[in-house]
Amino acid sequence: MRVVIENDKTYEKHGFLKKIYFYFFWLPFINLLPKNLCKWIFVSSNDHTKAIRETSKTYKSLELMYQYYKQPIVGAKEKLISSFWESSVINAGALRNRLALTKKELRNAIQERMNGSSQKIRILSVASGSARAVIEAIAELKLLGSAVEVRLVDISRSALDYSKGLALEFGVSSSVELVRADVRDVSKYCNGWKPDIIEMVGLLDYFHQPEAIQLVSALYDSLAGNGALITCNVNDNPEREFVTDIVNWAMVYRSRCQMAEVLLEGGFHPKDCTIFYEPFLIHGLAVANKNT
Ligand SMILES: C[S@@+](CC[C@H](N)C(=O)[O-])C[C@H]1O[C@@H](n2cnc3c(N)ncnc32)[C@H](O)[C@@H]1O
Repeated sequence: MRVVIENDKTYEKHGFLKKIYFYFFWLPFINLLPKNLCKWIFVSSNDHTKAIRETSKTYKSLELMYQYYKQPIVGAKEKLISSFWESSVINAGALRNRLALTKKELRNAIQERMNGSSQKIRILSVASGSARAVIEAIAELKLLGSAVEVRLVDISRSALDYSKGLALEFGVSSSVELVRADVRDVSKYCNGWKPDIIEMVGLLDYFHQPEAIQLVSALYDSLAGNGALITCNVNDNPEREFVTDIVNWAMVYRSRCQMAEVLLEGGFHPKDCTIFYEPFLIHGLAVANKNT
């Protein structure tokens, strides 16, 4: 299995001074303050972080972080304080890096499968949330209904409605189908429809090892012969306690070996898998090819 650490200019990362700030000011600040005080500051200092905590684990919270630098925050005080949090919490930058990395690997997987083929490329997004990565990737490649078929699966009606709006905004709604289902019901939402690419990002973080393996194995079986699974997991990091207790965002953290175990037990061969880490090494995005 190949492991790649991404480091180009696309991504947010720390320079020398930011690293000093992070280790000598930020980590002591979040780890030494009493938890209740830290939580109170996080929630009451500004509306942005309050909303992130209140909607943690959902597409709403992710969208607040994904779009932070693109949708300017109004009000000088709110702007100043939210920018303190957003530029300090490396998990927020790592999430934006995860989005950029997912889009890049989606574009690569689509382009590899477009060569010379006149058939539509089928893309399944499992636990799609806002589906921003998939929608932006196909919009950037200027792919419309004739080239791709996208199926978004989520248990949340409000996440699917949000994706519908996003697909309209990016002009790709004719390619996008919405399915409300539990991710575990693979036969219900695939039902003979064999995806070429499955994207499942931000879900394994909530599944323990046996359930994660079972799901990946079911997705492996549903993939087309030369299909690819693009999936991701959060890795242990120095902000784990802060994210769990203060941001109210508990997750199942996986090391590279635990991530590899999910893929291999799920049916993939090590030579067909690559794990890409974004520069903070918090999110590991795996691209696993089926090759049968
Ligand atoms: C953290 S979000 C990730 C969203 C998106 N993939 C992304 O990376 O931006 C997790 C999504 O999984 C959905 N979800 C959680 N459990 C699910 C389940 N059992 N079946 C279907 N969707 C589920 C939630 O509704 C939510 O939209």
